[in-house]
Amino acid sequence: MEAIVYATNTGSAAQYAEMLAKETGLAAYSLDEARGKVPADSEVIYLGWVMAGTVKGYAAAAKRYIVRAVCAVGMAQPGAQGKILRERNKLPESVPLFQLQGNFDVKKLHGMYRLMMEVMVKTAGKALASKSGRTAEEDDMLDMMTNGGERVRVENLHAVLAWYRGR
Ligand SMILES: Cc1cc2nc3c(=O)[nH]c(=O)nc-3n(C[C@H](O)[C@H](O)[C@H](O)COP(=O)(O)O)c2cc1C
Repeated sequence: MEAIVYATNTGSAAQYAEMLAKETGLAAYSLDEARGKVPADSEVIYLGWVMAGTVKGYAAAAKRYIVRAVCAVGMAQPGAQGKILRERNKLPESVPLFQLQGNFDVKKLHGMYRLMMEVMVKTAGKALASKSGRTAEEDDMLDMMTNGGERVRVENLHAVLAWYRGR
């Protein structure tokens, strides 16, 4: 493995990339930085923030590098979107996918992204708020939508680190 490459909007994927770098000794670069620093066809771990089911930057990263594992950084708790993420991003079964819960605060978003999430909070958030018998995951999502939340934790890297050390 040669490097960690990431794409972030509000910093969660960058935070996870730095934590992973510290734990593995690999260098972490944003997708832009990586262009000048990580040669094409290098083996990388890719981390991207999730936007409407798309792992941002993954397609570009997969064109240039050999992506050995993908970390999808989203507001949802792990597990919730695994199948959708794999399908939508055309992730081969041979590439492990790890879901990492990041931060979310609609007030920290700008332009189109803010508009999209304001609509989402009003529609999906309202629906969740009025739903009875919400699961713990749904409660967490509702809390993220309405109050914002910071969910980046080094413990969330356990699975990806176990994979890295055991491969
Ligand atoms: C326009 C938009 C769409 C999003 N879509 C999803 C989504 O489909 N699934 C998800 O789990 N999180 C989604 N999120 C939440 C972000 O992925 C989450 O806040 C993540 O922590 C952002 O990572 P970053 O801080 O590295 O930018 C979306 C956020 C925005 C702004």
